[in-house]
Amino acid sequence: MSYIRFEKINKLFGTNHVLKDIDLEVEKGQLVTLLGPSGCGKSTLLRCLAGLEQVTNGHIYLDGQEITDVIPRRRGIGMVFQQYSLFPNMNVHDNVAYGLKLKKMPKAEINQKVEEMLGIVGLSDKISQYPAQLSGGQQQRVALARAMVTAPKVLLLDEPLSAIDALLRKNLQIEIRRIQQQLGITTIFVTHDQDEAMVMSDMIHLFHNGKIEQSGTPEQIYTRPATKFAATFIGNYNLPSAAEFNRVFKADIAGQDVAVRPEIIQLSTQAPAKTDGLLTAEGKIVSHISHGNLIRFTVDFDGLPLNADVVFENRLDFGEGDTIFAAIKKDLVIGL
Ligand SMILES: Nc1ncnc2c1ncn2[C@@H]1O[C@H](COP(=O)(O)OP(=O)(O)OP(=O)(O)O)[C@@H](O)[C@H]1O
Ligand SMILES: [Mg+2]
Repeated sequence: MSYIRFEKINKLFGTNHVLKDIDLEVEKGQLVTLLGPSGCGKSTLLRCLAGLEQVTNGHIYLDGQEITDVIPRRRGIGMVFQQYSLFPNMNVHDNVAYGLKLKKMPKAEINQKVEEMLGIVGLSDKISQYPAQLSGGQQQRVALARAMVTAPKVLLLDEPLSAIDALLRKNLQIEIRRIQQQLGITTIFVTHDQDEAMVMSDMIHLFHNGKIEQSGTPEQIYTRPATKFAATFIGNYNLPSAAEFNRVFKADIAGQDVAVRPEIIQLSTQAPAKTDGLLTAEGKIVSHISHGNLIRFTVDFDGLPLNADVVFENRLDFGEGDTIFAAIKKDLVIGL
């Protein structure tokens, strides 16, 4: 049996049906991400697991026990909220030490753990400061340290990095993942940032309007979106109609729409040799945008515009108005 199991969870706020028949399982020691746009019910599901909201119906199990009606502090769950709530009258050290003091850990051990954790989140020099003296991102890191230092059975992280600048955020993603794996803390992470979900997760559950649209590993979700919504939310998929795509590439992809990642469209100034399993077409470069490591070209294929990514070495091989040839491996094209 899975370590955490949500069974047919429904949650209504008045007439607003926020969670609809959610079935979700989390294996012990995994980091699982709930990914989805604003308002789709991610925080509500976490709050139900923590016991801060009651489910309207359904069951929640943790480590073989039903916890649907157990009071929050008996669930053994640590949480970092979207609105991180530090104790304003305690300094950084005491905020982080709080949970360890409750556990009656010896003082020397508490100090050692607090210092170690503050080192990890990069706040060793702020140990005596009060929350009001810290920036939003620094407060968020204190909240993270406070939750992780107690090594809870389950850690719930609700957009814990949203107030942190890009570079530090990337480092913290890797650090959180490292600590989580090292301590084997079963973690549910909430984000609406697909890149963050890809970097951190064992499994991703993509939410849409209170339902799980698709579940899978980062690679599965990225390469095989199951629906148009998934393909819109993940990656940078081109989503032409199947009719248009089939006309231009002389293909027979089934479905309403076709999902094609920009990086699988190979551009060349030479017409590619016709081979089985390769779809080809001729087009004209319309424009390009530099992303640093790659250049995204927009190419017009007889009225059908598609984006194609080319790894940037040190010069642009194609310019606006050039005729180019595209080749796509057919088995990477997804009919939806
Ligand atoms: N306490 C509450 N009372 C009434 N409605 C609520 C309450 N909490 C959440 N909702 C509603 O439930 C829906 C889902 O909210 P939730 O906070 O779970 O979304 P979310 O996916 O976490 O979004 P975000 O990415 O913006 O944080 C929203 O329509 C919201 O208005
Ligand atoms: Mg939320």
